[in-house]
Amino acid sequence: MTAEAAVERLTEMLSDRPAGGTMWRPQRRWLAAVGALLTLVLLVHQLRGPPCLTSDDRVVQILPSAPINPILLGGSPVDRTLPLIFIGGMPRSGTTLARAMLDAHPMVRCGEETRVIPRVLSMYSHWKKSAKESVRLEEAGLNDEVLNSAISSFILEVIVKHGEPAPRLCNKDPFTIKSATYLHRLFPRAKFVFMVRDGRATVHSIISRHVTITGFDLKSYRQCMQRWNAAMETMNRQCLELGPRWCLRVPYEQLVLHPRLWMQRMLQFLEIPWNETVLHHEQAINKPGGVSLSKTERSSDQVIKPVNLDALSKWVGQIPSDVVRDMAELAPMLRVLGYDPEANPPAYGQPDPEVDRNTRQVRRDSADWQRRAQTLLGAE
Ligand SMILES: *[C@@H]1O[C@H](CO)[C@@H](O)[C@H](O)[C@H]1NC(C)=O
Repeated sequence: MTAEAAVERLTEMLSDRPAGGTMWRPQRRWLAAVGALLTLVLLVHQLRGPPCLTSDDRVVQILPSAPINPILLGGSPVDRTLPLIFIGGMPRSGTTLARAMLDAHPMVRCGEETRVIPRVLSMYSHWKKSAKESVRLEEAGLNDEVLNSAISSFILEVIVKHGEPAPRLCNKDPFTIKSATYLHRLFPRAKFVFMVRDGRATVHSIISRHVTITGFDLKSYRQCMQRWNAAMETMNRQCLELGPRWCLRVPYEQLVLHPRLWMQRMLQFLEIPWNETVLHHEQAINKPGGVSLSKTERSSDQVIKPVNLDALSKWVGQIPSDVVRDMAELAPMLRVLGYDPEANPPAYGQPDPEVDRNTRQVRRDSADWQRRAQTLLGAE
């Protein structure tokens, strides 16, 4: 019996009118009315009241019921509407600098590379690319809804739990930007910062620092430039597809030359109020609420220093001349991203005075910076 039916029956009975042509004797009428009233009370209670206790509910009931954020405590449910921040780009393109500068903001926590998030995303894209695997998953009940829910839970758990709580959580694993459109489906309010850098500088840094990246042959500048080009095509397409509301492309050289302007742009894009702390990330290294650095990440020894110009043109004169000659052809993305492939080096621009000051200071006190790296990051 539905609640409406019970109400109707009750009204009929109490109004002393014959229901459906049947005459009720007084005692039976009152008995039936009480029955209908009881049914009504039960129905209303079921609609409004707490559902029956399961064993899980009993566990929940003994927990404190203060208004706490379940995400920060590490419980469920997964809140896919968190305004997460993802920083990505090719390795050696300033992704660590960008995340350190953001991390210096009291409202933001990025933290170290998680390494597992891009792997899960890449696994997912392999499943999707294989028609056979897709059919198998679908047949086993692992439709998009199940997979997306599982993958977003995994990603969120990792982001939330590998560092301190903060109003805005951020993740920097360079290759996540390859899956930006998928991540945006999982987290519809997530925003993306896409770091780009002159590919010649990126490749020189990869080769000279022996940074192993799948598919990159560290013995060949030519092959690395081609690989860089292919990766940038994919990443840039993802960023363009999301559009300017969700993805901001940041040229590393410009961030280094004009940190105030570009951090203002970045914070505005992320809808985070300005704070000067982002221009002094080096003062927040390994402090509570500041910039937590990994001893094993390649870029850590560089981001302990203030923003300076030392990495801009190190590549000049280091690339084999036949590769320099064919540059425009090997890496057309250079031009697409605004770098002149014929200029060695291109004019990146004039630095702000504070950056010039930092650069002179870093060069003058290089021994001090080396000692600081030892203290903060342990012996190399
Ligand atoms: C900037 O951050 C510092 C350090 O957390 C804080 O003390 C200060 O109040 C912040 N300033 C603004 C304008 O929010």
